Formats: sequence, structure tokens, C-alpha cells
Amino acid sequence: MSRFDENRTLDHLAETGPLDAKLASAAADAIAASHAAATRADGKAWVSSIPTLIDGNLDGLRAGGHFDAQGIEKLGQASHAAYLRIRPLLLERGRQGFVRRCHGDLHLANIVVLDDRPVLFDAIEFDAQMATVDVLYDLAFALMDLLQHHQPGAANMVLNRYLAATPTENLDALSALPLFMSIRAAIRAQVTLARLQRPHSGKPGILDQTRRYFELAGTLIRPPAPRLIAVGGLSGTGKTVMAQGLAPDVAPQPGAVVLRSDLVRKQMFAVEDTHRLPPSAYTPEVTARVYDTLAQRAQRVLAQGHSVIVDGVFAREDERDVIAALARECNVALNGLFLVADLATRQSRIGRRRGDASDATPEVAALQEHYNIGHVGWATIDASGTQEQTLQNCRNAIATGETRQSD
Ligand SMILES: Nc1ncnc2c1ncn2[C@@H]1O[C@H](COP(=O)(O)OP(=O)(O)OP(=O)(O)O)[C@@H](O)[C@H]1O
Ligand SMILES: [Mg+2]
Repeated sequence: MSRFDENRTLDHLAETGPLDAKLASAAADAIAASHAAATRADGKAWVSSIPTLIDGNLDGLRAGGHFDAQGIEKLGQASHAAYLRIRPLLLERGRQGFVRRCHGDLHLANIVVLDDRPVLFDAIEFDAQMATVDVLYDLAFALMDLLQHHQPGAANMVLNRYLAATPTENLDALSALPLFMSIRAAIRAQVTLARLQRPHSGKPGILDQTRRYFELAGTLIRPPAPRLIAVGGLSGTGKTVMAQGLAPDVAPQPGAVVLRSDLVRKQMFAVEDTHRLPPSAYTPEVTARVYDTLAQRAQRVLAQGHSVIVDGVFAREDERDVIAALARECNVALNGLFLVADLATRQSRIGRRRGDASDATPEVAALQEHYNIGHVGWATIDASGTQEQTLQNCRNAIATGETRQSD
């Protein structure tokens, strides 16, 4: 594919401001579709090539003397240690069919938006082996580059949308993301560094860009401990909007995996996200299965060292107890947030909402007023104000304290 309007590539678009959720979702869908169509490989050759790749990056970073030698050594040690930890997982991924002949070079300059549609171009064609990688390693290039381009919201959206669109086995491989993204950042650091060394190509800002890639590689390889955030509340309080707003800032990067009860239910009935389900899909038995699945998936993500936000009504004490037990079992900090807003506000929001996976109507919202919610040990969040105010209320509650796990 030939290069066209360079201003329409995601790296350029990212310079003009935050990439919106729709575009990020479409990019994730394009990546997921390319992976679904990709040929599988056993992955052994790729897995054994990773240490050489790490060392090659380090050599590239040493050349030119722009970076602190100790920082490079530390990156090398942490990368090799991470590799040894996840090597069995990567081999298993190969056996499961997640190593495929991918795009191979999915940084933002290789994603162009044509008629509002992200198109992946300039795939690696010269070296099939370089592009035969774990699908998450392919995705990691785009995720890392969104972070580098100050797009944490889009990076988080791409991750979540990709995970929602692909087999749940990908949840069990999230511990590979820190190394995958870090290697991708180190590759970009040295590619931009090499550009600096060419005569007359010293674009101002290139050294700064290179430094930021290098720093990002160092940050990504040391992910902080994961945490669990639960966003509950009656329909129309704004849980889904808050979960999405909070997720990008919940470390490790690129932010928390958001697990939504509505999406789990739609998947359970094998229907599109916005397909309306009948009342029979909302019996207590079905709802119990939805919450069970939600908790199981949250456990799988936390076990991988990645943070989770669960988004559901959580109207029952036992549903909230399961979340507290999960946090204890996984030994992670829990923030339970329970959003509240009056009925009229909730109904008017639901009435105006379009194209959402929730089946709640203003009538459902009215029925919820009669729920016996029981003792709420989570932080009660005033969600009657603007989205910005509610987001701030959530952030304050997260900053001021963990939910006691006995609550
Ligand atoms: N604070 C707010 N102010 C104004 N509108 C809001 C606010 N929070 C959310 N909204 C809008 O109200 C609608 C309902 O929000 P959202 O879908 O997040 O609620 P929810 O609690 O997830 O509901 P459900 O239980 O049905 O999933 C959405 O269209 C959203 O954009
Ligand atoms: Mg919702």
C-alpha cells in the first residue's frame, strides 16, 4: 500500500488532541480483525528469539551515548527477568494458536484514518519471522505508541475493546504486556535514535522523543501492583461512564481492564452488545451467573498482575461480598464505589441514552427504587452532578481510602 496523506496517520492525529473513543474502538476492531484472519504458527522460533531481540535493543541504545549506561543495564536485567517469568506462558500461547503471522509494525505512523476508518498499512512483508508473534505483542506496539503520544484514554479503550472482541484466553496473558510494550518502546527508541545519526535528518525534538521512548521502556517493564475497583449503583447513575473515565489512570499501563456486567450478559446470550434482551435474561438465576462470570474474569486479570474495574449494579449485598472476597483472595487493594442519584435524574439520563449495551429503561430505573440494597460498605458517591464532578468524587474516594475488605 502506498503512503498517502501523512496527516491522517494516528501519530499526527494524536498531536491535534485526544483521539476519541469511537476511533480508538474502530482501531481495536481493525487490529482484532487482522489477527482473526492471520495464519497460526507454533511460536517456538519467536519465543526463543526474544532474548536476542532484547539484547539487540540494548546495543542499539548504547550506541550514540545518549542514555545513561546504568539505565540501559537495568532495563536489560528487568527485561530478561520478565522474559524468564513469562516464557512458559508464551510457549503455551503458541500451542493455543495465539502466535500468528501478524502485522508486525503497528506503531501509530502505520495506522491511517481513511473515511473515519482506521486502516493498518506497511505491515512487515520482508521478514515473515519478525511478524510471526503473539497477537498481544502485535497489539502492544499500538498500545505503547498511544501512551508515548499522550493518549492514555485511547490506549485504554483499544486494550478493552480488543479484549472484548477476542477470546477470553487473552485475559490470561496480560502478564506479558509489560515486557511486550517495553520491548516495543525500546525498539522505537533505537529506531528514532538511528534517525538522529543520519545527516540532515535531525528533526528538532527527535532526541526528546527518543528519550521519552527509552524512559517509557523503563517504566513499562516495572508495573506497579494491580488493584480492584468496583463501580456499583442503580441504572443511570453513570457507572459505565465513570468506569471508562477512571480506567486509563489505574496502573499498570495502559490502565484497568473494564469488565461490564451488561457485556457479559450479552455474550452469554450470544447477541450484539446493543441487542435488547427479553425479561427472561434478567431472572435472579441468570443475574447470578452474570456476576459469577464477572468475578471469574476479574480473578483471571488480577492473577496476571493487571488491574480491573468491574461495572455492574451490585444491588445485592452478596454480589458485593464476592468482590470483597476476590480482593482478599488475590491480595489486592479494593475500592468499592456506589454511585447514587435521584430517580428523576437517572430516568432522564436513561431516556436520553443511545446505543448502549444496558437494557435498563426509565421503568426499570423506577422498579430499582424498591430494591433492598442492604448494608453498603463501599464509598457512597454523589453522582447527581456533571460527569466531571462525579469523576472527581470517585477519584477522591479512591485517593482517601481502600474499602475495608471485611465490609
Ligand atoms: N453525571 C452525569 N451527568 C449527565 N449525564 C450523565 C452523567 N453520567 C452519565 N451520564 C449519561 O447518562 C447515561 C447513563 O449513564 P451510564 O450508562 O454510565 O449509566 P449506568 O449507571 O452505567 O447505567 P446502567 O445500569 O443502565 O448500565 C449515559 O448516556 C451517560 O452518558
Ligand atoms: Mg452501564
